[in-house]
Amino acid sequence: MASESITVRVSLAERAYEIHIGSGTIDGGTILGERLGRVPHAIVIADSRIADSYASRVAHGLAGTADRVDTLVVPSGESSKCVAELNRLWNELLRLGAGRDACVVAVGGGVIGDLGGFAAASYARGIPFAQVPTTLLSQVDSSVGGKVGINLPGAKNMVGAFWQPRFVLIDTSTLATLPRREFIAGLAEVVKYGVALDAAFLDFLEANTGPLLDREPSVLRRVIARCCEWKAAIVAEDERETTGLRAVLNYGHTFGHAVESLTGYGEYLHGEAVAIGMRLAARLAAILGRIDSAFLDRQDRLLDALGLPRAARRLEPDAMLAAMRGDKKASRGRLRFVLPSRSGRAELVDGVTDDQARSVLG
Ligand SMILES: NC(=O)c1ccc[n+]([C@@H]2O[C@H](COP(=O)([O-])OP(=O)(O)OC[C@H]3O[C@@H](n4cnc5c(N)ncnc54)[C@H](O)[C@@H]3O)[C@@H](O)[C@H]2O)c1
Ligand SMILES: [Zn+2]
Repeated sequence: MASESITVRVSLAERAYEIHIGSGTIDGGTILGERLGRVPHAIVIADSRIADSYASRVAHGLAGTADRVDTLVVPSGESSKCVAELNRLWNELLRLGAGRDACVVAVGGGVIGDLGGFAAASYARGIPFAQVPTTLLSQVDSSVGGKVGINLPGAKNMVGAFWQPRFVLIDTSTLATLPRREFIAGLAEVVKYGVALDAAFLDFLEANTGPLLDREPSVLRRVIARCCEWKAAIVAEDERETTGLRAVLNYGHTFGHAVESLTGYGEYLHGEAVAIGMRLAARLAAILGRIDSAFLDRQDRLLDALGLPRAARRLEPDAMLAAMRGDKKASRGRLRFVLPSRSGRAELVDGVTDDQARSVLG
């Protein structure tokens, strides 16, 4: 098993850490225990859907290296990324007597990573934490990079911190139970890395849509590792999103966030909205003469093959524009988009006019 695992390093000086990608690795606790070392108190923060399965196996494994292990279960779903749930976790940590030498281990998808990570970042002015992501989206994106936080009513990810984990353990076998729709939504973020950053990876994805959809372990491992390598490299260069480099990871997200917001966050999963957003961004890039129609078709074909949606209904252009202006990536009310220029390359483009943006929405 160990020979088939891949380790990716996130180079951040004294906060450097490793991402371990393998299969069947949450059992036994060896890898997590070794990397965290002897800890006096480990607190597993677990998504309720997988609390009795993966999270309990992680907690069991930690018993070998932690003097004490407790588990806090968080209700599954985005609504848990709120101040009430954070407040509950703070008070539970206090009740459990967690000291500054305690370590939080977040087991679940992006919701648990963001919430559990922010609880760790803020409790006792910050205690260590580790991530055990169990959704495809969290394995290729949210568990790496140190962004943690919660939502305010009407404002996603509005309160948070940069708090890097000590270690990320990715066990691809946990994806076996992920609902198909969630799995496919996660593939949108995978395609994002290919189109925006890595032409060879895009070729690989196109050649492996079948094995990917079948969740073939060796293909999953390779794909997840490549995404983590990219995210790690970008985070190492631009940890706090100040140079514009990290912004490339937002390919498809300006349109995507507007789609999510206009549809009340209930109709599309995040990855589905990102897929629609990438289709719109590529159309805009074609109109601006940055890519040709062959590349536009190529991206559409890949997204289609993976079962990712096209916009199911017409989205009101003016409402989309207004939502995009409110997007965090809009600078001084002007529209900015991450747009592809060729396979494996995308840039942040300023000064797109309303008419140009509207022309892909109609
Ligand atoms: N911090 C970042 O950099 C970053 C990046 C992207 C997204 N995010 C955040 O991530 C969140 C979305 O993450 P997500 O897509 O993982 O959603 P999620 O955490 O809500 O998980 C999706 C669903 O899958 C279930 N689940 C988790 N693991 C499972 C498994 N192995 N088998 C079966 N079911 C399982 C969960 O209970 C939930 O119902 C959003 O809140 C988003 O803001 C953060
Ligand atoms: Zn995303």
